[in-house]
Amino acid sequence: MDDTHVSSDLTQVLYTPEQLADRLKELSAEIDAEYKDKDLLLVGVLSGAVMVMADLSRALTIHCEMDWMAISSYGSGTQSSGVVRILKDLNTNIADRHVLVVEDIIDTGLTLSYLISNLRSRDPASLEIMTMFRKPEAAKSEVDVRWVGYDIPDEFVVGYGLDYDGRYRNLTSVGTLSPHIYS
Ligand code: XMP
Repeated sequence: MDDTHVSSDLTQVLYTPEQLADRLKELSAEIDAEYKDKDLLLVGVLSGAVMVMADLSRALTIHCEMDWMAISSYGSGTQSSGVVRILKDLNTNIADRHVLVVEDIIDTGLTLSYLISNLRSRDPASLEIMTMFRKPEAAKSEVDVRWVGYDIPDEFVVGYGLDYDGRYRNLTSVGTLSPHIYS
């Protein structure tokens, strides 16, 4: 769905589908180079990372496997609480594997922090993080994110996998949600 269908719900379109594809191409070249001699396992975080995972994996020129985790971060509306529960675990044993976590967005970094310590306890050969979007507070968190698509302002964004109340995930661009939708 393109943004013309929801234009009154958005205050601004931040990234067009073309810009998102171009940025992913740049990131995928770096990831290609990093993992060219390694067996790469992409771990996508459901459901937001579905679009990033689909596009990143296809932009790569190396083989990769894919697996998924679903976690719930308790919190209401547009805020995450950092209390995390695993809803769906990996199907893959990641011990001695080169794991790249693929995230849609990091806000406070609390969800990711939990996820990373959980995955680290499974003894992967390496563990890196790629996120398409990162908000300012996350940039201050101690979790080291290797690849960032865009650093964005501290506003609630939707589209390209990101939802509000289950909607807007299928928006091809990314935009800021108008406060009248959630206030
Ligand atoms: P934390 O704060 O733990 O939160 O880094 C990460 C999770 O919060 C959700 N989130 C958003 N979802 N637009 C969204 O659609 C946003 O602007 C946004 N900010 C945070 C998302 O589920 C992410 O994984």
